[in-house]
Amino acid sequence: MELPFEPYRIKMVEKIQRVSREERVRHLIDAGYNVFKVPSEAIYVDLLTDSGTSAMSDHQWAAMLTGDEAYACSKSFADFKNTIQDIFGYKHVIPVHQGRAAEGLLFSVAVPKDSVVPNNIHFDTTRANVEHVGAIALDCVADAGLDPMLEAPFKGDMSLEKLALAFEKYGTERIPFVMLTITNNSGGGQPVSMANAREVSAFCKKMGVPLIFDACRFAENAWFIQQREEGFANMDIKEICRTMFALGDGCTMSAKKDALVNIGGFLCLNDDEMAMNATNLGILREGFPTYGGLAGRDLAAIAQGLREVMDPDYLAYRIGQVARLGNRLTELGVPFLRPTGGHAVYLDARKALPHIPQEEFPAQVFTAAMYLEGGVRGVEIGSLMFDHLDPDTGEMVHPAMELVRLAIPRRVYTHTQLDYVADVCARVMEMGDRLRGLEIVWQPPALRHFTAKLQPVGGGKMVARA
Ligand code: F0G
Repeated sequence: MELPFEPYRIKMVEKIQRVSREERVRHLIDAGYNVFKVPSEAIYVDLLTDSGTSAMSDHQWAAMLTGDEAYACSKSFADFKNTIQDIFGYKHVIPVHQGRAAEGLLFSVAVPKDSVVPNNIHFDTTRANVEHVGAIALDCVADAGLDPMLEAPFKGDMSLEKLALAFEKYGTERIPFVMLTITNNSGGGQPVSMANAREVSAFCKKMGVPLIFDACRFAENAWFIQQREEGFANMDIKEICRTMFALGDGCTMSAKKDALVNIGGFLCLNDDEMAMNATNLGILREGFPTYGGLAGRDLAAIAQGLREVMDPDYLAYRIGQVARLGNRLTELGVPFLRPTGGHAVYLDARKALPHIPQEEFPAQVFTAAMYLEGGVRGVEIGSLMFDHLDPDTGEMVHPAMELVRLAIPRRVYTHTQLDYVADVCARVMEMGDRLRGLEIVWQPPALRHFTAKLQPVGGGKMVARA
């Protein structure tokens, strides 16, 4: 594979360090084998998330300096609003401090208790915000999106059958709107096709309910459409985005992804009443409607980031870099979900460490071993995150997959560093059955994966002697 060409040169660098193996052992034990608790200065390559971890451009930093900090109606807000309307095309633009705040406002004003929100797959915070208002978050991704080894171009697509069944089962009056997450993060960062968005949109129109996009990675999704979907090869990215968003009635957005900034978000809506209610609630929770929990300079950097993210050279490099990591892993025999997504590679820990049963958290073991072996931080998406008791039988239910997500920050790491990551993964594979399972020694009542403390089963070391 050709090296994805970097459409930038580096103007400012941040020193990172490789701490010694002895120090990594100490950090891992102190952190209770939970990499969320390892200090970031002890991490060499940090692939915990692509959210809020982008490198900003010279133009974004320049925009930060000239940001207008007026409390009301700043010129930075005007730039923010105009840029968003130019791409997304929606009538109302409500700034918020990050994506989940947009979700919180939308669901608080438009999702009554006991209603049902279908989505291809809800991201965790989206699901949590739906459930917080007493509603049901329903995942309707097409079956292809649930098959980890299937190579298909649009595994984020929603199943129209599942969507129609939801309307039949719950009734249109219980469904305030339908959501479509582009790209589908919880399903491996897989894109949604324009054809599917059109079908979903037509169905929503027929049923008389709005369609709302979760637009965090909209430019990456548009890139996949341009590359993979018939009829779009000659359409530019902005036009693809506009075509997509014209199918909907609004969107939630975490600017921490495809607006190439470290904080920010927005909610867009066409409906006047919904927008007015969200704006009023936003004043309580986020701030005056022309800053929404952000500084003027943040708004300015978001506007500039949105203009930059649609550059085809940037997107070719960005998604090429993720695909290239996938190719390296394939060469080294490290198993992962197919195909690579827009922002991340998801390693298959059950295949990598078949000797560790799900009770002993194989994906967490792989994650901890990556840190131990090379100072690389990924994130477990497996039984530590998703185990739960069946409400009927009281038995423990494990998730279908044990994954380790390697999310690639935008414009941050070089090809060399990602090659290094692939080598570290291969070395963890080589450790094989010398790696022992983990058990929980302490956990909080909810969202345990963030803070739980673990130890090797029965105590001792995680890596047995050869
Ligand atoms: N929707 C999707 C699809 C996301 O991936 C995220 C965040 C959010 C909403 C919430 O946005 O963090 O700005 O409040 N995803 C991050 C991740 C945290 O690591 O995947 P936020």
